[in-house]
This record gives sequence, C-alpha cells and structure tokens, in this order.
Amino acid sequence: MSATISPPDIRDDLYGPVSRLMRREDWERLYADDIEAILRLKKTRNAVILAHNYQTPEIFHCVSDIRGDSLALARVAQDVEADVIVMAGVHFMAETAKLLNPQKTVLIPDDRAGCSLAEGITAENVRMLKQTYPGVPVVTYVNSSADVKAESDICCTSGNARRVVESLGVPRVIMIPDEYLARNIGAETGIEMLTWPAHCEVHEQFTPQEIRQYRRLHPGVTVIAHPECPPEVVAEADYSGSTAQMIEYVAEKKPEKVLLVTECSMSDNLAAQFRQTEFVRPCNLCPHMKRITLAGIRRALETMETQVTIPDDVADRARLAVERMLAV
Ligand code: 13P
Ligand code: SF4
Repeated sequence: MSATISPPDIRDDLYGPVSRLMRREDWERLYADDIEAILRLKKTRNAVILAHNYQTPEIFHCVSDIRGDSLALARVAQDVEADVIVMAGVHFMAETAKLLNPQKTVLIPDDRAGCSLAEGITAENVRMLKQTYPGVPVVTYVNSSADVKAESDICCTSGNARRVVESLGVPRVIMIPDEYLARNIGAETGIEMLTWPAHCEVHEQFTPQEIRQYRRLHPGVTVIAHPECPPEVVAEADYSGSTAQMIEYVAEKKPEKVLLVTECSMSDNLAAQFRQTEFVRPCNLCPHMKRITLAGIRRALETMETQVTIPDDVADRARLAVERMLAV
C-alpha cells in the first residue's frame, strides 16, 4: 500500500492528521487491508455493522451499514434481517441490540468498551431508589446495563427523553443514571426529577467559560450541546439535542460555522459530510468508543467474538422497558 501518511494506531493518535482528513478516499487508502477484509467478512457472515455517531471516520464512513444515535441504533436493531449484528459502539448499545434481537448473534469488537454512566449505577441502587420513592416511575437512560434496565419502568435516550417523560403524565419521576440529562429535561418540562449522581466523563468536562471563549474566538458560531452536558453548559448553547438531532440541525440550518459540544469524532464525521459548514473541533474523547477500531471489527468477524449474552430473566424485564420506550 502506498500512502504518504502512515496510519497510526488510532488509539495513540486519536485526534491526529488521519481524523482531520476529510475524504473517504483517504481513509480507504490508509486502511485498505482492514476495510477490504471487513467488507468480505460481512458477506460471508451475513453481518451488518451498526455504528454510533462517535465512531472514528474510517469506521463510520467506510464499513458501517447503519449509522445513528442510540435511539436510531435501537430502532434499526429491531428490524435487522442479517444473522449477525456487529455493534461499533459501546457495550450498552450492543446489549440493547441483543435485547431486541435475542435470536441473533450480537458482537462487540471490544467488550471493555463501557460507559461511565452505565457503570455509575447498579440494579441494587435502583431497588433502593424504588423503596425510597414508592410509586414514582423510574425512567432509565439507555446508557445503562441490562440489569438496571430490568429494574426500570421505561427507558429513554437523549433523542426522546422529553417525550418519554411527558408521556407518563406524572409530576415527578426518578430519572437515572445521568444527573445532567435529568436536570436538563426537568428544566425543559417542568417535571420534578429525582436524580442519581452519575455523569458522562466526556460531556461533564465542558464548562460555560470554555463555550464563551469559543464564542469570542469564533464570532457568529452556532453552538450545539449534547444534553449530557451540565445544565450551565446547555444554557450557553443555541440548541441542545442528541447526536442525530445535531446532524439534523446542521443539515437543515446549514450554519456557516458550528461548535459541537460533544465527543470529537462527531465533528470529524460531519466535516467530511457537510462541506458548506466549518466545524470548530473541540476535542473531548470517549475512551470507550475509541476502543472500537477497524482491526477489532475485523477480528470480531473472523473469530465471532465477543458475543453479547444476557440471562433470560434479566433480558425479559429489560426488554419490556426498552419496548415501552420504542412504543412512545
Ligand atoms: P446519543 O444517543 O445522542 O447518540 O448519545 C449517546 C451517547 O453515548 C452520548 O454520549
Ligand atoms: Fe458513555 Fe459518555 Fe462515552 Fe457516551 S460519550 S459512551 S455517555 S462515556
């Protein structure tokens, strides 16, 4: 392979020159071996690759079949016809796909790809909350383990949290595990939120001062913040939404310059797609999302490892909470 830039290990050089390349042809040239092998293996295994919007551009643009936010990935997981689903995302996303597709093989290319929110609460914690606040419905962010979902009344994602909470028609809910998402939705809806102190390790790092600095450096910039950011950060933004809603906003409004207050790869992926918009690229990396690499996806399809499994009794209860969400 002749390449002017040698492909780094993406985990060692996460925001380096390769991420900043803007053309699919460049990634296809740099990662030709893995990409060709993955495309071949997808056919022989009858597999589809679902990629979250935070995956690196060479995964997102070159090998994935379906791309989206957590809600979109859960929705499509319901209708997949292939025998094998490879989740290019984190473990809770693979678990959600397995819940909705118990008969299919769901692979996670690196089973250490966790999430600080999912690890921030246990099923025992939820049982304790239910005892403390009897009768108050438990709304659980999909960024949680199947064990925690199994203790919940209904799930939500950042894309439908408002709708889900409002659909319950109650004055207060237990919304877990993301304290900031709960506070942001509480502010939007006026519904009282009983929260849990878990945070996204990526979004909690953004500060209002930083957003104001970006505005001074880039006058006129449109600021879009993920609702996992602290409420003071969301208050500085022009718009707040899930990763898919961010993409819709850019596609519709075509802002000249945009600051996506979220994980690094979002801007990298969108910069390649929306050429009319300039992306200021703040960079807070999700170390869990970045465990997924082309080499890992290739290995998963070669070895059929690691397969996601969920005990039946947990799966049955967790599935109910996810299905109630999808029905809203
Ligand atoms: P979205 O559902 O908005 O894609 O968010 C998932 C996530 O993990 C954000 O940190
Ligand atoms: Fe979890 Fe935050 Fe990473 Fe999303 S960005 S997977 S919420 S740690």
